[in-house]
Amino acid sequence: MEIFLGFVLLSFNGYHSVIGTDDFYHDTFPNDFLWGVATSSYQIEGAWNEGGKSEHIWDRFSHDNNNWHNDTGDIACDSYHKYMEDIQLIRSLGVDFYRFSIAWTRIIPDPIAYRTGRNKSLNQPGVNYYNNVINELIKYNIKPLVTLYHWDLPQSLQEKIGGWNGSDIVDYYNDYADAAFKTFGDRVKHWITFNEPWVICWMGHGSAEYAPGIKEPSVTPYRCGHHIIKSHAKAYDTYKHRYKTTQKGIVGITMNSDTMHPKNEINQEHIDAAERGQQFMLGWFAHPIYKDGDYPKVMKDNIGDRLPKFTPQEIALNNGSFDFFGLNHYTTVLVEPAKKEFGFPGDLRLQLSRDPSWTGSGSYWLKVVPWGFRDMLNWIKKEYNNPKVIITENGITDNNGTTNDPHRIYYYRQYINQLLKAIKQDGCNVFGYTAWCLLDTFEWNRGFHEKFGLHSTDFSDPARPRTPKRSAAAYTEIVNQNGFPPVGTSTTASSSSSDVQNLIMLILLCVSFFCILNE
Ligand SMILES: *[C@@H]1O[C@H](CO)[C@@H](O)[C@H](O)[C@H]1NC(C)=O
Ligand SMILES: *[C@@H]1O[C@H](CO)[C@@H](O)[C@H](O)[C@H]1NC(C)=O
Ligand SMILES: *[C@@H]1O[C@H](CO)[C@@H](O)[C@H](O)[C@H]1NC(C)=O
Ligand SMILES: *[C@@H]1O[C@H](CO)[C@@H](O)[C@H](O)[C@H]1NC(C)=O
Ligand SMILES: *[C@@H]1O[C@H](CO)[C@@H](O)[C@H](O)[C@H]1NC(C)=O
Repeated sequence: MEIFLGFVLLSFNGYHSVIGTDDFYHDTFPNDFLWGVATSSYQIEGAWNEGGKSEHIWDRFSHDNNNWHNDTGDIACDSYHKYMEDIQLIRSLGVDFYRFSIAWTRIIPDPIAYRTGRNKSLNQPGVNYYNNVINELIKYNIKPLVTLYHWDLPQSLQEKIGGWNGSDIVDYYNDYADAAFKTFGDRVKHWITFNEPWVICWMGHGSAEYAPGIKEPSVTPYRCGHHIIKSHAKAYDTYKHRYKTTQKGIVGITMNSDTMHPKNEINQEHIDAAERGQQFMLGWFAHPIYKDGDYPKVMKDNIGDRLPKFTPQEIALNNGSFDFFGLNHYTTVLVEPAKKEFGFPGDLRLQLSRDPSWTGSGSYWLKVVPWGFRDMLNWIKKEYNNPKVIITENGITDNNGTTNDPHRIYYYRQYINQLLKAIKQDGCNVFGYTAWCLLDTFEWNRGFHEKFGLHSTDFSDPARPRTPKRSAAAYTEIVNQNGFPPVGTSTTASSSSSDVQNLIMLILLCVSFFCILNE
């Protein structure tokens, strides 16, 4: 009898681990967790020269034929005209908020005239457009989460003051941020100053893959980063002193980071290289803002004089200039040490690779590594004293745009499940999640080739019709259930019902053994 009982218990434990603690974690998110979906201005709006908008650096970069198939965002998804339809799509997803960005050039087409006082008026059609978007969202109880800068710098500032490479940009950015807070802040309570400064500075000023297409990898990315951090801190200060008490909103910055994982997990040099990689990618911006006002030590050591220095006043202004931590995360890379070469990314002294066994996507860099997401969140928790984090982008590409997209459903379920584990099992302080992207869009230098959407967009049809993909329904289910409640339970059910299932299983097993015994 003891032998049989032992066998029964073994079976019970095996069963339990499969449905409960093993791979997929069944539980719900905290009750006040926020769900959202995102886009950005140049990727969706089109109407590049309508309504008084001026040219920006991405208009120029695209018109200069720098993108896949020479694609441009001139029309993109035509959301400038179709925003009402987009908001119905957002509504049907059932999300709490919509993350979108304002195009600087729509509300201040001539920033130099604005700053000098030659022309202090905002461009009314541009203001009307964003007022319409915001009011339509609020009508349906969807919160606007607004990014001020998603890469579309006015072309005039690029040409006349050197863009992010020039120090005057800080005051121009502050003019724009101040105008946006003043104009929209009665209704917008969540602000992101910048989207992905790493991409702006490295891909725009180091590798030249993105606008403004500068290839000066040893100095210019660091000057760009310096001016972005100062611009962020100043805009944060402007909000705090001019708007916070009346508008009661919150302001943060969104940084992108891959998880840097040691290629050999038990080799200390690989572990150190991964830490160095994380400090260069995420710490570059997060350390000054979320830790102590200045760059990570390893950046100062490795870059030397090529890294600009903050004054004590600037350090004080950077330090703690946030109400939340915005994170865009997509993938993980393997890291091992490499000999020093000059210039970013040689300054990191490491080599990156991807495990050939990882599932791919429509982008060479985006491999499906769900556990890396949980590691990233735990690194942020440890490094920055567990700040309030919101995931502002996460998603996957394909190149076929199929509406039957189980690969995307798999990605979302697995990544969101790791997020749930990070919150519930590790205590990471994450308060919201944003799926990228609402629909297939203009994907920067990859044109219309790489598709992230929960809805497909037909770019060959002038009406740009949108069609929900299967992943839209799958995401809605996660949102409606607030996660992954135990199988066979509703949103509010507790884990006790899975205990009941286990008990029934145990009784069935016992009964069958007694039947065997009796034979
Ligand atoms: C893109 O534009 C360049 C001219 O700058 C031209 O040579 C090339 O053929 C174009 N490519 C496509 C796919 O249209
Ligand atoms: C001032 O700027 C606004 C917005 O761009 C524009 O509509 C208006 O024509 C400008 N006024 C003058 C006098 O240039
Ligand atoms: C960036 O600024 C530095 C310092 O003023 C200058 O030497 C460099 O030429 C600038 N780069 C570009 C592309 O304007
Ligand atoms: C940064 O801010 C924190 C929290 O306010 C403070 O404890 C710390 O001393 C500051 N560090 C610097 C270098 O100002
Ligand atoms: C579309 O691409 C994805 C990812 O690259 C792939 O998994 C999927 O099978 C493709 N679907 C179709 C219908 O071609």
